[in-house]
Amino acid sequence: MAGIGYWFKYTTKKGLQPPTAAPTPTPTLDDVFLAGAEIFQTHCVQCHGPHGMGDGPAATTLPVQPAILPFHIPLHRDEDVYVFISEGFPNLGMPAFREILSQEEILQVLRYLRVRFGGVSP
Ligand code: HEC
Repeated sequence: MAGIGYWFKYTTKKGLQPPTAAPTPTPTLDDVFLAGAEIFQTHCVQCHGPHGMGDGPAATTLPVQPAILPFHIPLHRDEDVYVFISEGFPNLGMPAFREILSQEEILQVLRYLRVRFGGVSP
């Protein structure tokens, strides 16, 4: 029969010690949404407007009206919206954001668009 000595040896061998540092929390979907909201304010509102209605202050300087996001986002899958943001529409005035934002930031703003304007991805 194994006694306390065995138990002690066994647990120490397994390295069961109290953690020395708190684990890094994984970002929640809310964090991603909030980060996306900031990116939208900084990089998108001037053209798409605060409510995505294509009426930002810079909109009148463009050859076409910026897409009305509450109408357009529900029509497209995440993969496609990612490409729209990443490649932009340079000939219509929207820059290619892959030169401005990281992949992670594009995913953050994509999440923001989906939650705010798009409901579920088709
Ligand atoms: C300088 C102005 C400008 C800025 C800044 C801008 N856009 Fe655009 N965006 C446009 C224009 C113009 C179009 C319309 C292209 C078209 O009609 O096909 C467009 C189209 C889009 C579309 C395509 C919608 C569809 O279904 O056709 C998405 C999505 C989009 N923008 C998202 C964004 C996001 C997200 C940002 C910020 C990261 C952003 N845009 C910043 C001008 C801009």
